Amino acid sequence: MTTRLRLAVAGVGNNISALYQGASYYEKLASQGVKETDFVGITRPRIGGLGVSDIEFVAAFDIHPNKAGKPFSQAVLAEPNNYPLLDVSLPTVDFIVLEGFTQQNSNSTSAKFKEIVSRLRESNAEVLLYSLPTGLQWAVDIYARAALEAGVAFVNATPDIAARSPELLAKFEKNNVPLIGDDLASHFGTSIVHRELLGLLSERGITLSSSYQLNFGGNEDFRNLRDHGASKRESKINALTQDGVDTSNVEVIPSAGFISHLKDNKVAILNIEGQGWAGTPVSVDLKLKVQDSSNAAGVIIDLIRIAAAARRIGLGGFSAAATRRLKSPAGGHPKYTPEIIAKSFSQLDASAN
Ligand SMILES: NC(=O)c1ccc[n+]([C@@H]2O[C@H](COP(=O)([O-])OP(=O)(O)OC[C@H]3O[C@@H](n4cnc5c(N)ncnc54)[C@H](O)[C@@H]3O)[C@@H](O)[C@H]2O)c1
Repeated sequence: MTTRLRLAVAGVGNNISALYQGASYYEKLASQGVKETDFVGITRPRIGGLGVSDIEFVAAFDIHPNKAGKPFSQAVLAEPNNYPLLDVSLPTVDFIVLEGFTQQNSNSTSAKFKEIVSRLRESNAEVLLYSLPTGLQWAVDIYARAALEAGVAFVNATPDIAARSPELLAKFEKNNVPLIGDDLASHFGTSIVHRELLGLLSERGITLSSSYQLNFGGNEDFRNLRDHGASKRESKINALTQDGVDTSNVEVIPSAGFISHLKDNKVAILNIEGQGWAGTPVSVDLKLKVQDSSNAAGVIIDLIRIAAAARRIGLGGFSAAATRRLKSPAGGHPKYTPEIIAKSFSQLDASAN
């Protein structure tokens, strides 16, 4: 029988609602006799022996008054979260969400640091998933250090720097604790569609003149990214450049607007202008619509299983298996060939057999 992944989360926002509800969705499919290889919307039914609903939420940290101090299963559905309610019965998870770090107590000598490390240890968490608003570099740093102190694997879903910090990565490696990041690459998001189209242009010999990508949405992430989008923009450019595409004439606006009635739906507009034979024009205009936080959860489920599987076999630091699920992996994309990535998955999967 599979030992469920014991998950702690920092930030109980829309991503976590999508993950919590989605895990129950797949549990329901399994109870109806659907084989996991027939599950819709997932990339790998198992990683390191773990299925997509083999998660147990064991601890959570937030600072929003609707969430901190509340039972987890209440906090995860509280406003301003606006991921839709799926048609599944949800498990009651009654541990209380602990007040998280603020910038004032974000140091490793504070009482809050001791409290968060103790909560991680007492809960026997295997993985701490970091899913705070983008742009809080102090926060990713202190949550990562708390995870390291507790010996808990750390997954950074945001573009702020954790796994790309050589100093932090070396510490995780030295202590045999996994560090997976940075910035999840959405399941079927703007970056991947944009990157593939730019790659196709180049492969077909069309010269890129200019391109832009505009993203709109109505969740808290889009509200925040309007003003704090710098690290997200940089990370999205990293994702576009990963296969050697020249991005000097490419503009990316992570949040071109917060439109509340869009709720958790994201709309992206892509434009590409190029020159073909004899300098004649080629033009692409594309509109992409997705459920934004499903797009995150569909990848988070892989990142946390990679982190847990690596921890279970004592592999510290970054796991190459996570590379293509991240916009800005530790060491950069070119470091990880398809062979290295496949070998890393085999190592994690072999441990479960
Ligand atoms: N497709 C996607 O949705 C996607 C893709 C890539 C990256 N991301 C990133 O994932 C992150 C989370 O996205 P989301 O939609 O869940 O955001 P969200 O705004 O819904 O949730 C963030 C949560 O963090 C909490 N928080 C704020 N400060 C905190 C602190 N100091 N300690 C603990 N909790 C705190 C907030 O109260 C909120 O509950 C964002 O940085 C986003 O950019 C999302």
